[in-house]
Amino acid sequence: MLILGIETSCDETAAAVVEDGSKVLSNVVVSQINIFAEYGGVIPEVAARNHLEVMMPVVKKALEDANRTWDDIDAIAVTHTPGLLGSLLIGTLTARTLAIIYKKPLYAVHHLKSHIYANWLNENMPKETSIIEFPLLSLVVSGGHTQILKMDAHNHFEIIGTTRDDAVGECFDKVAKILGLPYPGGPAITKAGRNGDRNKYHFPKPNVPDLDFSFSGLKTAVLRTVQTELGLPISHPSHDLKNHLNESQIADFAASFEKTAVDYLLEKLNKAYEENPGTKSFVVAGGVSANELLREEATKRFDNVFFPERKFSGDNGAMVAAAAYFEIQSGVEPTDPYKLDIMPRSAIK
Ligand code: KG4
Ligand code: ZN
Repeated sequence: MLILGIETSCDETAAAVVEDGSKVLSNVVVSQINIFAEYGGVIPEVAARNHLEVMMPVVKKALEDANRTWDDIDAIAVTHTPGLLGSLLIGTLTARTLAIIYKKPLYAVHHLKSHIYANWLNENMPKETSIIEFPLLSLVVSGGHTQILKMDAHNHFEIIGTTRDDAVGECFDKVAKILGLPYPGGPAITKAGRNGDRNKYHFPKPNVPDLDFSFSGLKTAVLRTVQTELGLPISHPSHDLKNHLNESQIADFAASFEKTAVDYLLEKLNKAYEENPGTKSFVVAGGVSANELLREEATKRFDNVFFPERKFSGDNGAMVAAAAYFEIQSGVEPTDPYKLDIMPRSAIK
């Protein structure tokens, strides 16, 4: 089964052709990172306008790269929730129109499901070789979400922990801004902290009960520590701190923050494991799953831990096609292309 997956929930315009939820025949991603790097974040209206410009060329290239035509495509899948309203609209309107014109069944997919299913993507191997076993615990870490989910089988999701305020990716982005590093903050913090001392600064881990997270307190802890280190009052504007920091301070702050964030995520995942001792695999998903230290530490601390191939950890169309494939396998019906609506916010079901 060949599925064309379309993804536009944030600032990547993406389309891909995937066979049987696993084999990636093409994967085209046009990122707007260069546009937003200088602003320090995504501007929704600008993102939507850019999606509109490149959407159809991206779909066309996905078919060309896969060496397939519309006749070969069995279904279209698109992200319809959650995400930026204008961005989601461009992807869904495109998918709806294509489904009507080419008479293809249309599947509307939740963005976090897609991130999780990026772990089943593989350019070379057929899906039978997947060794991810259920029940599993998934740590979903992106720019908009931080959650721990339990999956007893394909397409069965139970959220057992979630952030009460900011997402971890958002926290990386905000801390990067304080340190004068570009957007997106995740890779910038890793790079800046490479020669830094991870144990130089100690940030208290937010004390949130159960398996829930909080990241706004961690961001504030970094901010206060930077102000203290520089001998500046807490009223000193955060956007000006970067002008007072030297390279080695930036490196130490970046490395210490990264370590705290990663430890915090994995402590919660470990707590989830203690509460679910029958867990057979751990699946890390979302943009932050690209993080080197997270990969290293998770692999040390858990057996059977999986990460998407790096090129599939950020937003892409292949993961949307994979998620749709496993939905279809579990009996989900196609959606009406004349009626499909978007939802900027919604929980995975
Ligand atoms: O999943 P994603 O591409 O988009 C959303 O669904 O939100 O995640 C983007 C987030 C950004 O906050 C970015 O800073 C973070 O993922 N990120 C990373 C890394 N690469 C991207 N965070 C930590 N380390 C990385 N290497
Ligand atoms: Zn995402």
